[in-house]
Amino acid sequence: MDHFQLRNGELHAEDVPLSRIAEEVGTPVYVYSRATLERHARVFREGLEPVAKASGKEPLVAFAVKSNPNVAVLKVLSREGFGADVVSGGELVRALTAGIPADKIVFSGVGKTRTELQLGLEKKIGQFNIESSEEGRELAELAASQGLEAQATLRINPDVDAKTHEKISTGRAENKFGIPLVRAREVFGELANLPGLNLRGVAVHIGSQLLDLEPLETAFAKVGKLVADLRADGHTITHVDLGGGLGVPYKASENPPSPAEYGAMVARATEGWDVHLTFEPGRVIAGNAGVLLTRVVRVKRGGNGPPFVIVDAAMNDLARPAMYGAWHDFDAVVPVGDKMMANIVGPICETGDTFATDREIDALQSGELAVFRTAGAYGATMASSYNSRGFVPEVLVDGEQFAVVADRIPADAIMDAERVPDFLLD
Ligand code: LLP
Repeated sequence: MDHFQLRNGELHAEDVPLSRIAEEVGTPVYVYSRATLERHARVFREGLEPVAKASGKEPLVAFAVKSNPNVAVLKVLSREGFGADVVSGGELVRALTAGIPADKIVFSGVGKTRTELQLGLEKKIGQFNIESSEEGRELAELAASQGLEAQATLRINPDVDAKTHEKISTGRAENKFGIPLVRAREVFGELANLPGLNLRGVAVHIGSQLLDLEPLETAFAKVGKLVADLRADGHTITHVDLGGGLGVPYKASENPPSPAEYGAMVARATEGWDVHLTFEPGRVIAGNAGVLLTRVVRVKRGGNGPPFVIVDAAMNDLARPAMYGAWHDFDAVVPVGDKMMANIVGPICETGDTFATDREIDALQSGELAVFRTAGAYGATMASSYNSRGFVPEVLVDGEQFAVVADRIPADAIMDAERVPDFLLD
């Protein structure tokens, strides 16, 4: 359920007609709905109630900041009690800026630099998810040299096929993430007694946009077995991080498991573990809480196929279709009822700048507004300035009001950071 609905023939974000945002802020523009973010946060938390009940411990829900790092969005989730899963120093600073307490911040990522590890230590974050023995030793040494102790888990790679797009699958043996399960006990043993490190559990994340719970359940079963083995080895295991990955419906035919179904599965899979659980959802919280609002530049007659509906948004603004062949529903802001077949494309000079091919859409003409739906996760954050296009602004709607929560960064502002060196001057 989201709050982008037709009212009196016009698509609204909550109580705000999208045409008003287009007029005041221009297009393309990302539009987020506060009520939708809050709803998704609550539904996710409620889904985990059986887990909280079974374990007797309140789980930590750490929003995957990579999916939508806008500080205002993080603020909404912080007010919902969410923590943050970060993968860079930049994300860490954003989470803190949004008011997320340091002890609710989890630092994931396969290539944390020494500077980033240091930043995490300084800010006293709640947990580092370590991805290699090399990283574990570096973190331990860094912490010990300052008389600190880093709280950490070891991320394992369970070698499970998440059955999602290969570029967003992270839990197969050939992926770069985590410690292979077969080496987990050995690496855990190697790191467990290092001064400066409190290695207190394990972490797992097998991929994103999962439409089936079965691979997750398989991975969690492997984690459960590992927890028992580690305890048998004499380690104290108090924390397990189960990652993110729950999918969202990009189109009507997709029917991802609900947070309630996910929660029931987790409660079953983690029965008797007696640990503090952490979750790192991103897309399921932010995906359907945002749209990319765009204006049709013109409609160009096609070659042999349907016409090209050329919109002012492009692959630099919303990269997912070009990168993963992803589907985003495309709807007119003021649908007239007629339909047309179209190829939806952006203005960028490569054929990859295609949002949809041979798609039946609301009939649209030059100058009219439309949205790409489910653009609240992995949308604005993956933008680039390719073709010297600026960065798209972001707007947050709250009932009848809205605010620009990220300015448009025009192409000339990006150019201002460049300079011609003396040796090229005439
Ligand atoms: N935790 C870790 C360690 C992750 O790597 C990710 C996502 C998440 C949590 C959040 O996963 P989610 O709940 O959002 O599925 N750019 C791609 C998605 C990349 C996901 C990377 N990792 C896309 O647009 O589909």
